[in-house]
Amino acid sequence: MNWLSQDMPFGVSPEGRGFVKVNKELEPNSETGKKLFAEKCSVCHGADGEGQYNADGTYLYPAVAGDKSFNDGAGMARTYTAAAFIKGKMPFGQGNTLSDQEAVDIAAYFTHLPRPVKANKDKDWPNGDAPKDVRR
Ligand code: HEC
Repeated sequence: MNWLSQDMPFGVSPEGRGFVKVNKELEPNSETGKKLFAEKCSVCHGADGEGQYNADGTYLYPAVAGDKSFNDGAGMARTYTAAAFIKGKMPFGQGNTLSDQEAVDIAAYFTHLPRPVKANKDKDWPNGDAPKDVRR
């Protein structure tokens, strides 16, 4: 089974993307999220989430909105999935410093900024069991 972990950096668990649990009952407030994003995230990810890129196209800090970012069908475009990621991992190097509410607010804000649109999203959940934060 060794090959499964071949590309994993040493000591990083397969959950290494650092998703933690956040309370999905919390109501997101994107206005608060916008302020928090400006305070805690924009220094690396840019004022509009556009990220920072090297001349060769590799990122210093990945875009979290706009053309270079993940599309709106990605798990990361869902408020509570993104909140679970940023609570565990962001701000980079300061994981687990946001409260659930802050993570949900920030996630609601940046996930709904303009980003590439995934084609045929309507076919993603054929059984009609899409979670409430899936994008239409
Ligand atoms: C000190 C710089 C820094 C700060 C501040 C920071 N990030 Fe990040 N962020 C990064 C880096 C570097 C990565 C890439 C990590 C990796 O690839 O493992 C990243 C990755 C991400 C990703 C994943 C993007 C993708 O395409 O998978 C999201 C979403 C994100 N950050 C959101 C945030 C939010 C929201 C905040 C504020 C709460 C924040 N970041 C603060 C540096 C930062």
